[in-house]
Parts: sequence; structure tokens; C-alpha cells
Amino acid sequence: MTLPPTNGHSVRVTSVTKTFGSGDAKTVALKGADFETREGELHLVVGPSGCGKTTLLSVVAGTLDWDSGQVEVLGERLHEMSRSSVTRFRGRHIGFIFQQFNLIPTLNCVENVSVPLLLNGHSRREAEARAREMLKRVGLGEKLRAHPTGLSGGQQQRVAIARALVHEPRLIICDEPTSALDSVTGHQIMELLAGAARAPGRCVIIVTHDPRTYAFADRITEMEDGRVRNTISGEAIQSFLTTHR
Ligand SMILES: Nc1ncnc2c1ncn2[C@@H]1O[C@H](COP(=O)(O)OP(=O)(O)OP(=O)(O)O)[C@@H](O)[C@H]1O
Ligand SMILES: [Mg+2]
Repeated sequence: MTLPPTNGHSVRVTSVTKTFGSGDAKTVALKGADFETREGELHLVVGPSGCGKTTLLSVVAGTLDWDSGQVEVLGERLHEMSRSSVTRFRGRHIGFIFQQFNLIPTLNCVENVSVPLLLNGHSRREAEARAREMLKRVGLGEKLRAHPTGLSGGQQQRVAIARALVHEPRLIICDEPTSALDSVTGHQIMELLAGAARAPGRCVIIVTHDPRTYAFADRITEMEDGRVRNTISGEAIQSFLTTHR
């Protein structure tokens, strides 16, 4: 699938609203969120629990329908596309690491990581070779044949990261990718994600509560109560680092 030109923006979200439930159970998760990321950057999204981070990123990933507003990803206007086109687009161009890792329990690590490649038409042989390579890069070379239930939380998280990166998607979206990792592994994963972000035309968006990730950011977006409050870069990140450590 050839992508239209992006003018350097990988994501452009304008005035997006999303309400869950109705009546007494109604929650307005997004109240007109505006959000934008650029190619070549590692972009963090921060904010208190329940402010709408996962909801916003699920909209960008095309896994959640929203109520109103525009969503443009890699130059494609998701709000004008059919559900099946969005699904195809996501499978080719977006890698998503879910807050719950969503690994397939009946598949071993290599098989889990092979899934995006198989869905994109690669042979099993090639998919498994690339999956093994990716698992070694996240430090799981010893666990290739293990099933998710036999892994620690941090190891499962790294399988999910390998699965999101293996097909070299243009946009990688991660919901708390370092939450279950010790500081050495967390640092390695952030370096891997930062490397992926800075390849031409790529972008990595990370939702995080983990102050250890802040130093890797090119820009940081702060959300509050269903809206984007602001996006900072450069020196402002330095002062953010000192106040949020
Ligand atoms: N499927 C759902 N059904 C009903 N309400 C939901 C659903 N998903 C999210 N919400 C509500 O929408 C609001 C935003 O949730 P969201 O998961 O986006 O927050 P978050 O910023 O990711 O929080 P956290 O940091 O705890 O992961 C919350 O009030 C949440 O309870
Ligand atoms: Mg969340």
C-alpha cells in the first residue's frame, strides 16, 4: 500500500471526542483532543490515570472508533476509511504494544513475534527467522520456544515489544512499555525504541508514567481530563525532567 505524503507529520488528531457507555455509566474519555507527532521523533504522552491516554492512542492505532473529530495517520485520513481498510493499514504500518501485553498463550515466543509478518504475507520460514533475530535483540535469545505463561512480566513485555517492531512499521505505539522492566532492561528497550523512532519516516509514541523514559523524548505531550494540555520540546523537557523526577 503506497502512502500519501505526510508533510512531516506522522499523526494529526483534531478535536477528537469519545464517550463510553451512557446514562449513569457514561464516561467522556476524550473531550476534543488535539495531538500531533512528527516523523523521526520519539514522542511521550503523559498524564494522570484515567485522563484518556490509552483511549487517544487506541484511536490513533485504529483499534477504537471515536465519536467526532479528524484522525490522520501517515497521511491517511482514518475517519474517511472503511473499517477493513483501517485494519489492513494498521497491520502493515502500525506496531502496537498494549498495556496488557495481549500475547497469544498457545503460541511460543517465536510464533507470537512471527504473527505480524505472516499477516503481511511473509513465509513462515522467513517470519520465524526474523522473529528469532528480534527476540535476541530484546534479550530473549534463551526463551525462543517458551510460552508466555512461562515468562516473567518483564519477559512478556519484551515479547510484545519484539512483536511490535518485527515488521518495521512506520508508526510504533507503546502503552507503558517499561512498566514491568528493571532499570537495565528498561534502558535497553528505550534505546531500541529511540533507534526505531529516528529511522527516516518513522515515529514512536509512548504512553508512560515512568520518569526513566523522559530523557529519551524529543517531545512530550501532557494530557489532562480528556484533552491535550500542551506539548513541550527542547529546553522545556529539561525543566520537566527536574520537576517530574
Ligand atoms: N472500554 C471502556 N468502557 C468504559 N469506560 C472506559 C473504557 N475505556 C476507558 N474508559 C474510561 O475512560 C477514561 C479514560 O481511560 P483511559 O484508559 O484512556 O485512561 P489512561 O489515561 O490510559 O489511564 P491509565 O494511566 O490508568 O492507563 C477513564 O475514566 C476510563 O475509566
Ligand atoms: Mg492507559
